[in-house]
Amino acid sequence: MKKYGVRTAAYAYFSDAVAYLDELNYPVVIKASGLASGKGVIITQDKEFSFKALELMMKDKIFSPGAADEVIIEECLQGKEASVLSVFNGKEISPFLSAKDHKKIGEGETGSNTGGIGVVATNPHISEAIWQDFDENILTPILQGLSAENLSFASVIFVGLMITEIGVYLLEDNLRTGDPEKQSIFTLMESDFLETIQKAIKRESIEISSKPAHSCVAVMDSGGYPRPYRKEYEITGLETLHTSYYIAGAEKENDRWITSAGRVLNIIGIGTSAQEVYKNAYEAVKKISFTDTFYRKGIGLS
Ligand code: GLY
Repeated sequence: MKKYGVRTAAYAYFSDAVAYLDELNYPVVIKASGLASGKGVIITQDKEFSFKALELMMKDKIFSPGAADEVIIEECLQGKEASVLSVFNGKEISPFLSAKDHKKIGEGETGSNTGGIGVVATNPHISEAIWQDFDENILTPILQGLSAENLSFASVIFVGLMITEIGVYLLEDNLRTGDPEKQSIFTLMESDFLETIQKAIKRESIEISSKPAHSCVAVMDSGGYPRPYRKEYEITGLETLHTSYYIAGAEKENDRWITSAGRVLNIIGIGTSAQEVYKNAYEAVKKISFTDTFYRKGIGLS
């Protein structure tokens, strides 16, 4: 990011961060620099908590062994999150509609982080000016970097963004689709997804068109998620739905769907306003039941 001028948070690497804890502007983000299944991040509000976080990561090795032999301490960006999925054909990046993921388990953005517990598309915080800022300071420099490094693969590129008061910043960058972002975005696609991917592989130009509509994905979870939870409960009510849904964590046994993961179902509401999609998604959610079911209620309202 630094090499190609993609706007991202200020950061530094440390193999011994304790000596610097007095000098930081809190809150800060402490990250394991190695692989930690996407979970190696702790946000700390003060010096004491930072010390504890460093102990957990570096001494107690709560992530995989070696993942936090070195840590990254990063500026904590405040604002509204956004996700943008794009298709890269080796020469050009073509974005889909923007989306807003909700990662915290609790209402009002409280509690533990999840993989994503609800999404709306398009992202209500992305104005034309913000999109232009994103294009100039994130998407274009990423493309310039890919080209300068002779990286001409075909792939989905998924960026996680923070819209702050002073501009859009890149939080993360992945060569995969986001979950449940993709469910909200592909639902609104008018272009054919398979054709789009085939064109990317053939290095052809891509134009993605989407319906002039909104969508909301409410994720129904196993009670307890993202901490340990129980599963293998029967899901009932799916046959009564008049809206689309995706099975995320369930398995079919004879004619019955049985829960098999933390995030179980994605229920989709589509409509012409944020209020309408919210109503459509949550009316459908209320028709479904399984033991211990849990869902976050305010998706799209913040
Ligand atoms: N929902 C966030 C992700 O897929 O990484």
